[in-house]
Amino acid sequence: MDQRTTNLVLVMILSVIVLSGTGQAELSSTFYDSSCPNLSTIVSSQVASSVAAEARMGASLMRLHFHDCWVNGCDGSVLLDDTATFTGEKASISNNNSLRGFDVIDVIKADLEAQCPDTVSCADILALVHLKEIHNLVVLLAVSSTKSWILKKDLGGPTWEVLFGRRDSLTASRDAANTFLPAPSSNVSTLRANFAAVGMGTDEDLVALSGAHTFGKGRCGLVSARIGGNPPDATIDPDYNATLNSICSAGAATLVDLDQDTPTDFDNAYYSNLLILRGYFTSDQVLQSTGGSTADLVSSYASDQLTFFTAFANSMIKMGNLSPLEGTDGEIRVNCRVVNSNVATM
Ligand code: HEM
Ligand SMILES: *[C@@H]1O[C@H](CO)[C@@H](O)[C@H](O)[C@H]1NC(C)=O
Ligand SMILES: *[C@@H]1O[C@H](CO)[C@@H](O)[C@H](O)[C@H]1NC(C)=O
Ligand SMILES: *[C@@H]1O[C@H](CO)[C@@H](O)[C@H](O)[C@H]1NC(C)=O
Ligand SMILES: *[C@@H]1O[C@H](CO)[C@@H](O)[C@H](O)[C@H]1NC(C)=O
Repeated sequence: MDQRTTNLVLVMILSVIVLSGTGQAELSSTFYDSSCPNLSTIVSSQVASSVAAEARMGASLMRLHFHDCWVNGCDGSVLLDDTATFTGEKASISNNNSLRGFDVIDVIKADLEAQCPDTVSCADILALVHLKEIHNLVVLLAVSSTKSWILKKDLGGPTWEVLFGRRDSLTASRDAANTFLPAPSSNVSTLRANFAAVGMGTDEDLVALSGAHTFGKGRCGLVSARIGGNPPDATIDPDYNATLNSICSAGAATLVDLDQDTPTDFDNAYYSNLLILRGYFTSDQVLQSTGGSTADLVSSYASDQLTFFTAFANSMIKMGNLSPLEGTDGEIRVNCRVVNSNVATM
């Protein structure tokens, strides 16, 4: 067992104990209605301008929320810089030279502090940026799609209510990030164990959330085994393999669109690509090539985008409920990178 696997086994034992002791989170969609009525406007205008400046940013922001929630719950820990007393998550295996969008969060936080000081947590900002982004994309899709009325009806509904009330952590942990965040070389059993360890243990959660790889980019170095031919990967389309080898001859840090067809759209092309062996990471392709329940879900999401959107929304809301700090736990950071007790000493 490698370090990740060993840690994961320990964590699974612990999480059974911890999760059984906590109740369902009680976040609320109206949490900031009186304390920060302009929250939604402030966040969506900053998200819109950052995505207009760089189409990839929507994907990067969504990944921040995932990497926050997966590591000791949705508590803004991913945003903390290292300090003398803890080593944070930014330089963990999955995050180093990879996670991005921190500057966008800083701008949003500064805007919010100007309009409603000490009120909106960084963890809640992460929960909102991704939903705003998805929502914006969905509206765009709705405008361009012949099925627009279906998308609007189902996606404008209550399943898209953003829940708030999370508070920010006082610490962060690189070790926990190394333990919990999944590796792109994973097979289906490892992915299932990884999702189960945080309380997202259904195949719907795994397959629907993996659909986030319908946009954004990934580095060539992470697919060297898949495209290297030693041993040959029987689950990659030869033309796609050739294309990737050609792009990746530029080096391990080269970025490739995770979804070749519609790289910046949030749609179900991820799943149709898996059906023709054009998944980027091993962890993507195995969902289809291993067969069984995950492959059935891939086929179902590939054939019906609305089924995917509904499953995705459900799993995102479930993910947003992972062990939030509430009430008087934690704090509302004034700067998402630093705990408040350290701000004065800066
Ligand atoms: C199922 C297990 C998963 C694995 C193994 C995985 C792994 C990865 C890796 C390795 C990258 C590229 C990193 C790089 O090259 O620097 C990536 C990108 C991305 N991941 Fe995942 N991921 C998983 C699940 C998820 C989930 C659940 C979400 C969100 C709900 C997500 C959202 C994204 C997005 C949006 C990107 C592109 C980010 C950007 O362009 O900045 N991933 N993922
Ligand atoms: C909310 O934003 C609007 C327009 O952007 C502004 O006129 C209004 O003063 C803001 N309200 C608060 C409470 O800050
Ligand atoms: C993170 O990446 C930087 C730049 O490549 C590297 O110098 C550093 O050692 C990495 N940190 C860890 C913990 O791997
Ligand atoms: C999945 O990967 C793990 C870790 O590399 C390995 O121990 C396990 O045997 C693999 N399972 C299957 C079914 O290939
Ligand atoms: C993928 O490309 C590599 C490098 O050219 C090659 O060795 C391997 O056989 C190819 N695999 C497939 C399935 O085409």
